[in-house]
Amino acid sequence: MLIRNRRVRQNEAIRSLVRETIVSPNDFLVPLFVVEGKGVKEEITSMPNYYRYSLDLLAAEVKELWTLGLKAVLLFVKVPDNLKDNSGAEALNPDGLMQRAIKTVKDACPQMLVMTDVAMDPYSKFGHDGIVGDGEIINDDTNSVLAEMSLSHAKAGADFVAPSDMMDGRIFEIRSLLEDEGFHNTGIMSYSAKYASAFYGPFRDALDSAPVDLKNIPKDKKTYQMDPANRAEAIKETLQDIEEGADIVMVKPGLCYLDIVRDIKEAVNIPVAVYQVSGEYAMLKAASEKGWLDHDSVMMEQIISIKRAGATMIASYFAKDVVRIIS
Ligand code: PBG
Repeated sequence: MLIRNRRVRQNEAIRSLVRETIVSPNDFLVPLFVVEGKGVKEEITSMPNYYRYSLDLLAAEVKELWTLGLKAVLLFVKVPDNLKDNSGAEALNPDGLMQRAIKTVKDACPQMLVMTDVAMDPYSKFGHDGIVGDGEIINDDTNSVLAEMSLSHAKAGADFVAPSDMMDGRIFEIRSLLEDEGFHNTGIMSYSAKYASAFYGPFRDALDSAPVDLKNIPKDKKTYQMDPANRAEAIKETLQDIEEGADIVMVKPGLCYLDIVRDIKEAVNIPVAVYQVSGEYAMLKAASEKGWLDHDSVMMEQIISIKRAGATMIASYFAKDVVRIIS
């Protein structure tokens, strides 16, 4: 036998020499959920050990992330019911929760990269990522709101805006308004290939943002998010977002879509983010609580697989857990 593959697997020293994929704190975006109030740190039921923070505790959390080497956060807000409508008005409030959250993070930790979720669903009384019209989610009017929302986040100090809605043409609208208003250096991370996934369930619990029952609109997001059965349009969506001015593109969810990650990695020449979503987190937490899976080993295997598939960066609820293990 001339070829013995096991020679390079004999011990940890040789394995670590030949290892192709190394995970580091630089790989992560940390999603953070923000709520009104003071001293609030509430665990999300379907996301064990993951919390919503009020602004005062958000500051402390962000400082801790920085000391762990985690240098980018992705902010989401839980909007009180009485501020939800069908127009996203509260999203444009210069003193809204998101705008204050951005300032809070920058005050607590000026070097922390702040990315913000741009989407209407947390502000929508219908739980949709667009303005609900008669039998449809209205695309172009929603784009104007998303662009204004992005501008508002940029003014509050966001480094990157991250539109997660999947309306057509929104990257162009956002980029154009940011340029017109002088925010040349505010980046756009586009959720470009975002699938209509059932793995978002726990996130919708976290923000209380699930679509509601409506007469002539389905209680799902399939008219704007992509069909999990499709591959070619993921590339089309992504190339289009790049033409419209996206700086970073994203595939979401992660694990079930690693073929898409690889396709896109090979098709584009800009960074590719992958979102390991709430349901992926919940699944592992539940199985490990039952003693059916080893939490840390499975977590690391998943993260390594996402990076191996082609992710430049990973938005993950496991970021802190991973960094504790690798440092
Ligand atoms: C909505 C949005 C969702 C997520 C991020 N932004 C849910 C959805 O599309 O309904 C999901 C993230 C996760 O599940 O972790 N704009």
